[in-house]
Amino acid sequence: MNTQSKPERIIIFDTTLRDGEQSPGATLNVDEKLAIARQLARLGVDVIEAGFPFASPGDFEAVQKIAEQVGTPDGPTICGLARATQQDIETAARALKPAAKARIHTFIATSDIHLEYKLRKSRKEVLEIAPEMVAYAKSFVDDVEFSPEDAGRSDPEFLYQVLERAIAAGATTINIPDTVGYLTPSEFGALIKGIKENVPNIDQAIISVHGHNDLGLAVANFLEAVKNGARQLECTINGIGERAGNAALEELVMALHVRRKYYNPFLGRPEDSEEPLTNIDTRQLYKTSRMVSNLTGMLVQPNKAIVGANAFAHESGIHQDGVLKHKLTYEIMDAQSIGLNDNLIVLGKHSGRNAFRTRLRELGYDLGEQELNRAFLRFKELADKKKEISDWDLEAIVNDEIQQVPELFKLEHVQVSCGDHARPTATVTVRLPDGQELTDAAIGTGPVDAIYKAINRVVDIPNQLIEYSVQSVTAGIDAIGEVTIRLKHEDRMFSGHGASTDIIVASSQAYMNALNRLYTTLQNGKALHPQHDSVLPSVN
Ligand code: KIV
Ligand code: ZN
Repeated sequence: MNTQSKPERIIIFDTTLRDGEQSPGATLNVDEKLAIARQLARLGVDVIEAGFPFASPGDFEAVQKIAEQVGTPDGPTICGLARATQQDIETAARALKPAAKARIHTFIATSDIHLEYKLRKSRKEVLEIAPEMVAYAKSFVDDVEFSPEDAGRSDPEFLYQVLERAIAAGATTINIPDTVGYLTPSEFGALIKGIKENVPNIDQAIISVHGHNDLGLAVANFLEAVKNGARQLECTINGIGERAGNAALEELVMALHVRRKYYNPFLGRPEDSEEPLTNIDTRQLYKTSRMVSNLTGMLVQPNKAIVGANAFAHESGIHQDGVLKHKLTYEIMDAQSIGLNDNLIVLGKHSGRNAFRTRLRELGYDLGEQELNRAFLRFKELADKKKEISDWDLEAIVNDEIQQVPELFKLEHVQVSCGDHARPTATVTVRLPDGQELTDAAIGTGPVDAIYKAINRVVDIPNQLIEYSVQSVTAGIDAIGEVTIRLKHEDRMFSGHGASTDIIVASSQAYMNALNRLYTTLQNGKALHPQHDSVLPSVN
């Protein structure tokens, strides 16, 4: 029997970089993925699903670098997704090779609706392909995860047969996805219970769950699954992912943490056991959430559980009074427990390069020499404007550096005139990829509109601005403003990010950043989507 089948705690499998990155507009470059992977390792996740290596050379490179740099012997397991085909599996195995602990996650759909309209395969064929491809994955790595896609809408009897065969072929984790977010908590719990009772060799594998949030039930479904025997949870930071997203890691972890007494008995522990239920360092949650939101351009709604701006804010007088008298009157957890107050004032005008680098290292950023030089320059500029620099300021500078894509279009100059008696007018000078510099001007409804219109006159890539937001990094009128935008080109979304104490400059940078991402993607061609792009017809 596989000793992994009875883990003493819940395994946290993070798929922010794979399923999360499948969110419209959340595309990340290799450096951004590496920064997130490093932070996930600090957070203490057990498995990082780093991507779908067959999708594109860029995805392959990202998985390979994460395997190399984050997949160290005492680091997390690095996982790559592969459809149930030899090409996908072989490519995933190559990308994962540098990891000390590597996992291949292969999947094939099992619901009749997917079989008929997507795969165009019979149940008999799926019953053959699943074990065949698990065995093929097993020829590269010991740790193989198998998912019957759309398990939530599959015929349970057929599902049991597929799972039994996948385990017999060597799958060490059996993942049960509610791909379309259709199930209710009691149905999901019953599905896991049914699997435990009806798959004869289920003891040889860990039961994992994966689910989407279309009905807002993903986290509740997972917690019910835990009560029924699931021991791995597949989730994403801030719940980002396809459509309404995936189950949110921070919500699951804090539910298991805060309600430990309730969940302990389901893991065979005494009710009052203090042993953590996951390996997560909860004090890293807030920081991880900010990083993912910043780098993906997917903003966190203010009322989002655990990491939303209002999650620990007490607006109403009655609540404030109660909280001042005794925190527990209205708080079930402490802001400290997610690292919300870890925003120390650390550096100032006179801090040198060494102190700057040391603090960045402490925060988990290990920048290359060039990135460090650029970031230090920006730090000095900021220190001239702002007396005290906090950790969040530093993170804003560094995240902005990491987010830079090659500046094929470079904004050399921007000037705006506006005010209550002026028509907002912007003049911009942009250097094009061929080195030519063009200057143009435009009038807009406001200064940002004028800048974007002027840039559009020079950079001729049709797009539609879908979202624009400014957030201040810290309190105070000298705060850095972070601008996040999302724009649409044909059917694809692209995000852009800029940070500066001047929000007009930050807005211009964000737009150029998004345009450069868009242009790079057009040049590199479209990456494959693991679920929407048809599965290759033959397995050999
Ligand atoms: O939602 C889903 O079914 C998936 C699988 C690839 C596990 O993401
Ligand atoms: Zn999914």
